[in-house]
Amino acid sequence: MPDAPTSDARTIAPPPAPTAHPAAPASPRRRDALVASGLVHRFGQVVALGGVSLTIPAGQSVAVMGPSGSGKSTLLHCLSGILTPDAGEVTLGGGRVSTLRDADRSRLRRERFGFVFQDGQLIGELPARENVALPLLLAGMGRAAALAHADSWLERLGVGGDMRLRRPGELSGGQAQRVAIARALVHDPAVIFADEPTGALDQATGHEVMQILTTTASMAGATLVVVTHDPHVARWCSRLVEIRDALVHSDTLATSTPLPTTGTALPRQEDAR
Ligand SMILES: Nc1ncnc2c1ncn2[C@@H]1O[C@H](COP(=O)(O)OP(=O)(O)O)[C@@H](O)[C@H]1O
Ligand SMILES: [Mg+2]
Repeated sequence: MPDAPTSDARTIAPPPAPTAHPAAPASPRRRDALVASGLVHRFGQVVALGGVSLTIPAGQSVAVMGPSGSGKSTLLHCLSGILTPDAGEVTLGGGRVSTLRDADRSRLRRERFGFVFQDGQLIGELPARENVALPLLLAGMGRAAALAHADSWLERLGVGGDMRLRRPGELSGGQAQRVAIARALVHDPAVIFADEPTGALDQATGHEVMQILTTTASMAGATLVVVTHDPHVARWCSRLVEIRDALVHSDTLATSTPLPTTGTALPRQEDAR
């Protein structure tokens, strides 16, 4: 069993209903498997991926683990279209990701994918709610609607109220990662990619953030691919893929109880820094 939050637990509501705008298709993404076939990627003489194939069904949560330098980030970057593999291909719902033209690939990343990085990569000059609204504004949603949507996600992730108005530098590391998770989820993406999202947090905060990430991704029906060093994290995912020396070393489905999908208790974020 995951380390359950012991205090200040609260029940969160299911995600807001998908909005009728182009970046938030209501249903098709749920059938969109992410498939990597024979991915090879080199940096000069270094083989970062030596032929990796993975089929990730829609809605699955996958923990990617392995030693430093084994190719985890390169795999995530190829899966998400940030890098083009030297050989092999990536498809989402049967459509090719890896061979799209740059502009189409950027659009796909913006509209169908959400990203959470180790340091959040929030925009320092913008308050939390505007950081979260950004993917919706880029997709053409009106400002008022985008901010309202952002507010509802921030509230659900325990960083509502006054925290919505703070800039990233005025939030704790855990609070900032909650904002980053809200931003990754706000446009109802098909897949969320997270690269060591708790790497800069203390262990307790890291666990809390990881539990929120896996639970909210599951509730939103999004596929989650998360790179982590923390063996606890795998417990909150439905599958563990271990990468070693640029190859898949092991690939295991979780045998533990699947994540709950409704009425899940999440730890409350105290407004303390
Ligand atoms: N931009 C880059 N230029 C040169 N080598 C790189 C670059 N990014 C990664 N590598 C190399 O590719 C290998 C895999 O790196 P990476 O995917 O970042 O590993 P991990 O995320 O598992 O730590 C490593 O040997 C790393 O040094
Ligand atoms: Mg890495």
